[in-house]
Amino acid sequence: MCWKSFKITNWIVLYFGLVGLFRHVECAENKYDNYTLIKIYPTGIQQIEALKYLEEPEHQVEILKKSRSFNDSTDILVSPNDIPFVKEFIKNESLNYELKRNYGRTFESVERTPKRRILRGFSFYEYHSFPAIQEYLDNLAKRQPDLVKLQNLGTSYQGRRMKLVKISSDHNAQNPIIFVDAGIHAREWVAPAMALYLIHRLVNDPDARKELDGVDWYILPVVNPDGYEYTRTSRANRLWRKTRSKNSQFECFGVDGNRNYGFKWAVSGVSTNPCDKETYAGPKPFSEVETQMVRNIMMENSKRMKLYVSLHSYGQYLVYPWGYTGEYLPKEWKKLDTMARIVSDAVQKAGGQPFKVLSAGKWYAAAGGSDDFAYGAVGVPYSYTMELTSGFEFIYPERLLRTVLPQYYEGFRAFAAQIKKEFCLKYIGQRCKINSQEESGTNS
Ligand SMILES: *[C@@H]1O[C@H](CO)[C@@H](O)[C@H](O)[C@H]1NC(C)=O
Ligand SMILES: *[C@@H]1O[C@H](CO)[C@@H](O)[C@H](O)[C@H]1NC(C)=O
Ligand SMILES: *[C@@H]1O[C@H](CO)[C@@H](O)[C@H](O)[C@H]1NC(C)=O
Ligand SMILES: [Zn+2]
Repeated sequence: MCWKSFKITNWIVLYFGLVGLFRHVECAENKYDNYTLIKIYPTGIQQIEALKYLEEPEHQVEILKKSRSFNDSTDILVSPNDIPFVKEFIKNESLNYELKRNYGRTFESVERTPKRRILRGFSFYEYHSFPAIQEYLDNLAKRQPDLVKLQNLGTSYQGRRMKLVKISSDHNAQNPIIFVDAGIHAREWVAPAMALYLIHRLVNDPDARKELDGVDWYILPVVNPDGYEYTRTSRANRLWRKTRSKNSQFECFGVDGNRNYGFKWAVSGVSTNPCDKETYAGPKPFSEVETQMVRNIMMENSKRMKLYVSLHSYGQYLVYPWGYTGEYLPKEWKKLDTMARIVSDAVQKAGGQPFKVLSAGKWYAAAGGSDDFAYGAVGVPYSYTMELTSGFEFIYPERLLRTVLPQYYEGFRAFAAQIKKEFCLKYIGQRCKINSQEESGTNS
């Protein structure tokens, strides 16, 4: 029964001066083992409306992803007890659906021995622990100090040291900034993996000079390290989404970081219940130290920041503001839409799936997202949420990273080319002379 659910923990034991490495093997309880994943494909407005019924908290279904177009699935996880209710609902509404039983048994075992990493080096096609990621970045900055600088941001709620990775061929050039973050949602492992792959290519690929000249890249690969590590502690915690801050009033943990930003905070699509596992917006805007860090990076660099991309999974969407409302779009939405389609085409040309491009709030509004904050409060002219991959939900297999990460990288190259085209009037060496309206009147 337990053949696939070993939890392997490494204990380093200091014993009379001897260091021993022991493997502690136990049979992890995974509450999702017997859950069923149901993918529902709405084919009309009426069915989209009907699906909102499942969102009511008393129904106990966990919604992994909501549909953003007809025939795009709403994915829900249903416990054995709730299956009869959901089946009846599906029948009543004549919904198309697919299901996968015993969903939790498909989760990959999360912990592995550090030995494997030491022997084989840091692979970009694996999911790493947060300490391993930090170690990699520290070494990279040491090896390539001209190209890579790390900025200390302070510590996460649980005390993990966070560092912003700045990559530039000329750190004094004051180039336009592309800011990429990942992993605000703990379970979306493919997002930090993509951020690390992006760092790797920009630093180690000689052809990436083109992407570096005239643009500074700021990358924060794991915004929510406490949540990320929590999803790695056991298969039972693999689907955790929020931060790990403790609510003082209730015995509940965590805030949805992507509902916590201070622009139109909590006006739509959030939960006000601290025990809600998905979309609790927090006690106030920027209650979380991790979202404060991202806010500070944006505010401190607001003049130069021209593009913000927040990496998430899943669904293969590239969405832009507004997220808080579906009723109207920003005045400049066409520019946001056009750039997104250029990026999608580049990914497709590299053999990847195209993105579904639309405004984030078009199908379901959700306020307090980082993309709306960057665009609406900071004034970053291009702001996106990129939902990587489709199929496999949050459990995207490591073996496929080798294929998809290079495809997405082509999307980032297209982003950089567009930003340079729009914002660099001309070049002086590697420096881009910014072509922006705010600066056109000054002589700096
Ligand atoms: C799943 O179902 C099996 C068989 O009914 C049962 O033995 C097991 O305890 C269940 N697992 C969980 C995590 O509920
Ligand atoms: C949705 O899928 C069904 C069945 O595959 C198809 O008949 C229908 O045309 C699709 N609708 C849209 C809007 O794509
Ligand atoms: C399904 O429809 C029947 C008849 O209208 C109704 O009594 C029942 O509550 C519905 N069930 C669900 C789960 O929506
Ligand atoms: Zn997410």
